[in-house]
This record gives sequence, C-alpha cells and structure tokens, in this order.
Amino acid sequence: MPPFRLAHISDPHLPPPERSLGLRDLVSKRALSAMAWRRKGGQHDKAVLDALVADIGARTPDHIAITGDLTNFSTAREIAGAQAWLSGLGAPAHVTVSPGNHDALVGRPEADGFAPWRPWLADDQASAFPHVRIRRHVAIINLCSAVPTAPWLATGELGEAQLAQLAQLLPDLADRGLFRLIMLHHPPVVGVVSPRKSLEDGEGFRAILAAHGADLILHGHAHEAALGGLPGSTGLVPVLGVPSASATPGGRHPPARWHEIEIGSDGDDRQVWITARGLSALTGAFETLGRYRLVA
Ligand SMILES: [Fe+2]
Ligand SMILES: [Fe+2]
Repeated sequence: MPPFRLAHISDPHLPPPERSLGLRDLVSKRALSAMAWRRKGGQHDKAVLDALVADIGARTPDHIAITGDLTNFSTAREIAGAQAWLSGLGAPAHVTVSPGNHDALVGRPEADGFAPWRPWLADDQASAFPHVRIRRHVAIINLCSAVPTAPWLATGELGEAQLAQLAQLLPDLADRGLFRLIMLHHPPVVGVVSPRKSLEDGEGFRAILAAHGADLILHGHAHEAALGGLPGSTGLVPVLGVPSASATPGGRHPPARWHEIEIGSDGDDRQVWITARGLSALTGAFETLGRYRLVA
C-alpha cells in the first residue's frame, strides 16, 4: 500500500476584500488589525499563495490540512472570500481547515461564524470541535484553538469541553490501529511563540497527550518552520509547524513553504517522511528544501 500523502499549509492570510471594514468595525479589534495589516503590507502576496497551491496540485496529495488564519479580520465578506478560495482547492472531503485567531477576531457564536466553512471542517454537521475525519489508515483530529481575544492579544484556547472529548477520542482511535494526526492553529509546545500569542490551556492539552499519546501534531500561527516534541504515552510526539503559505521573501518571517507528509501504511513500521517545499528567492519557484524521516 502506498503511503498516505498529506499537504500541510497554514496562515494564507488571504488579502482582505476592498471596503471590508464598516463603520461598526472602526472601534473594534478589526480596526486595530487593519492597522497591523497595513504595517505588515507586502509580507503576504496572493501570487505567492497561488504558486504554492499550484505546486501542491502538481504533487497530487491525498489530503490538504490548513491550520488557520485564512483571513485577517474575520469579516463576513472575508469568510465568504475564503470559502470561494477553499472551493478552488478541491473537494471539501480532501481539505480540512482548523480556524486561526484571525478567523475569530470578534465575538460570534461559533456555529454561525464558521458555518460557510462547514464542509471543510468536518464530515458531520456538528458544530462543536473536535472533528475526526478518517482517511485510509489516518485519523485527522481537527481541533479549534481560535477564540476572540482582547486587542493586541493573539492567544488561543481549546476549552474544557473540547479537551474532554479529545481525551475520549485518542484511546479509541489508537485501539482501531489508526495513525492519530492532530491539527490546531496555536503551537502546543511552550516557547514557539511569545505568551501574548500562546495556547492558554496548553497545559491541559499536554496532560492529555501524556496520558493517551498521538502520532503527529501540526500547527501554524508562528509563521516559522518549527519542529518540537511533546511527551506522549509511549514516547515523544513530533510537533511540526509550517511558515505562512503566502509569505514573501525578505520579510520578517521565512518565505512561503508547505510540507508534504507521507505516512506509511505498514503496521508497526509506519514510517513518516517530511518533504519541505519552499519558495526560492533566487529562482522565484518552489523547490524541495529538504526531505526528512521522522524518527520518534
Ligand atoms: Fe497567522
Ligand atoms: Fe495566528
């Protein structure tokens, strides 16, 4: 059996549609974010994102995992714009989205806020996270750490209900012999981002991981390539972050990158290989930066 091949991308920060901010937004966090967006101007480019998506398409992955921050201000128009972009990526059954803090800037009921993205969040109609999608020998466990925060904060939170559900799911999926892949926006490893941007209930998440284990964790938010590990029930669980999918060369963060993750299907010898595909500042094209076998 060939390996399951998953493309991991994050933080596309799709350009905001014109006139997406109304009067009502001017006194909200959206206005502050709009100022931050203008300050960051030029660090994200839709043409870069388009080239990255074309590079993924050429390598025909089985699935695409997107760990959040599709938008910048989470306006209804941006959410709809992101929905149109997702529709162009492929069938919703082959693309899974975990929302980011930029997708949940202003308080809204979760069920309403992400409703346009529902086909990409889960196979079922339930609004509450976590969602599990089983694809061949892989269980994609989709968590949501996106919560509205105070201005200038970018923290995340999973919440007690989601953590309790996760604690139930992990042993069940292990009993079924599935490879347990967790995706969430905020990095669960301490120190990857500053406290201002951290996962507030990371300690609870790490305790569940230590008790029940998992096979791989994917995150975004840091706009950096980060490889870490967290103690699981039988060893270290690899934690992998990918830079923004639309980042331009020469910015504060590394240029756009995506990870191709190959998950072997051969029982105990279930090897995991990572291929990093990144934008070359020299050629302007995407190329393989390195290929690594994960050895836990
Ligand atoms: Fe981001
Ligand atoms: Fe973020």
